This record gives sequence, structure tokens and C-alpha cells, in this order.
Amino acid sequence: MQNDTDQEGVIINDLPKHIGIIMDGNGRWAKQRNLPRSEGHKNGVKSVKRIVEATIRLNIDYLTLYAFSTENQFRPQLEVSLLLELLVTFLTNHINDLKKQNIRLTTIGRTDELPKKVQAILHKAINDSKKNTGLNLCIALNYSSRTEVVDAVRSIIKAISDEEKTLEIFEWGDFASYLYTKNFPDPDLIIRTSGEKRVSNFMLLQSAYAEYFFSNKTWPEFIEDDLYDAVKEYQRRERRYGKVIEQSESSIV
Ligand code: FPP
Repeated sequence: MQNDTDQEGVIINDLPKHIGIIMDGNGRWAKQRNLPRSEGHKNGVKSVKRIVEATIRLNIDYLTLYAFSTENQFRPQLEVSLLLELLVTFLTNHINDLKKQNIRLTTIGRTDELPKKVQAILHKAINDSKKNTGLNLCIALNYSSRTEVVDAVRSIIKAISDEEKTLEIFEWGDFASYLYTKNFPDPDLIIRTSGEKRVSNFMLLQSAYAEYFFSNKTWPEFIEDDLYDAVKEYQRRERRYGKVIEQSESSIV
């Protein structure tokens, strides 16, 4: 079949619906330049802006950015405060752009444990953008896949003890409806920058059939063309979902 391509050479009729990005390497980017780690994170924010815009240009429906893991809160307090401050500044500066760019913002993770100031701007940005119909931008904050599973199991136990749910018919779809990502499709493509080949507690269950793309560039170095390369590589992969190719032309569910 002949595929249509846009000016970037990306095939426009076989796009991943949901891309997840493990943004890694801000610290190393700074170290290589004899700069403080904070400079790495500041330049990481510039990459966030670039890649969100490129994702919109590609017409991707869902983008999840792993910005702050549950484990990241154990970094030196100064670095944690800086990261959260950068997020607050980013959202404050771009809250009007969410409307202009038709972005719907959501989060996954235990955001109720974040400082009140962070929760307030998140609440405003999520609320202001909830009717937007373009890119679904999800920021993973105080997120880890394992805490997500623990929270899901706690909610399921509660639903069963409240007699809202029974275990007689309880399959994967029922379990998935208790995950933070209940309203999103599973990620098709997960990108990790900085050369590390790990998944670091990111969407472990949702990525059961995702394609991984590992870039050697650090996150601040990751530009639009790198995103297009990742998508083109994804488009060359043969996804079989555990079946034989003839059966798997479309997704499993
Ligand atoms: C990994 O680099 C990156 C992070 C832990 C934070 C990512 C956060 C941002 C890019 C800024 C805020 C986000 C938004 C959405 C505005 P690292 O510090 O682990 O790098 P290293 O492994 O080289 O030390």
C-alpha cells in the first residue's frame, strides 16, 4: 500500500495514537557543559515546549511526559523544589497557550501529595483546558507504575467491600478502569532519551504492546527531527500483539 507522507516524511496514516516520553539526561547535559544541574532542567523545559508543538503538528492524539517520578522526590530538596518551580512557571506562562493550541491537560500520579502551590496551578490548567479537543497532554507527576497498581488495588478492594463491584467477572479491562490512565488508550510508542535502556517504573502495564525507541541524545538535545525519526522507526516495526501477522493488522482490542 502506498502511504501518504507529510513534509517531514512521516507517514500520516499510520501514526501512534499515544506517545509516552521518559525525559532523561538533563543532569548529564549540564555536566557535559560544566553547568549546574538546574541549567539542564531549564533546557529540558525548552525541549518540552518544542516536542509538544511537534506532536501537535504530527496530529498525535495523546502525549504523556514523565516529568517527576515518585522516586525523584528523594533527590536533594533543592533540586526537587527547582523541578516543581519550573513546572509552576511553565504552566503559569503557558496557561493561555493551552486554549490557543487546543491542548487538554491532564496528570497521572499522586498529585495530591505535591505542594499546594503546584496543585493549585495544575487544577487551574486542567480545569481551564478540559473542553479542548486537540492534543491530550498528560504530565506524569509523583508517578510510578507500582504506586498506580497499589492505588488501583486499594480502590478495587474498597469497591468490592462497598458492594459496587464483584470479582465474578473481573478481567483486564475491569482492572484497567482503576488505573490513572483509565481514559487513555495504551501507549503505542515509548521514547526514552539519554541512552539508558530502562523503563523506570513508567506505564509498566499499559506498555504491554508498546514499541520502545531509545535515543542517545539527552532530553535537552532532543529536537523535532528526533521525534520524527522515532515515529518513522515505529512505522517500520511490525506489531503483532502476540498473534501472527495476518491476524494483527489492527490492534487487539
Ligand atoms: C531527567 O533528567 C529529567 C527529570 C527528572 C525531570 C524532567 C523535567 C523537566 C524536563 C522539567 C519540567 C517538566 C515540565 C513538563 C515543564 P535527570 O536529572 O535524571 O538527568 P541525569 O540522569 O542525566 O542526571
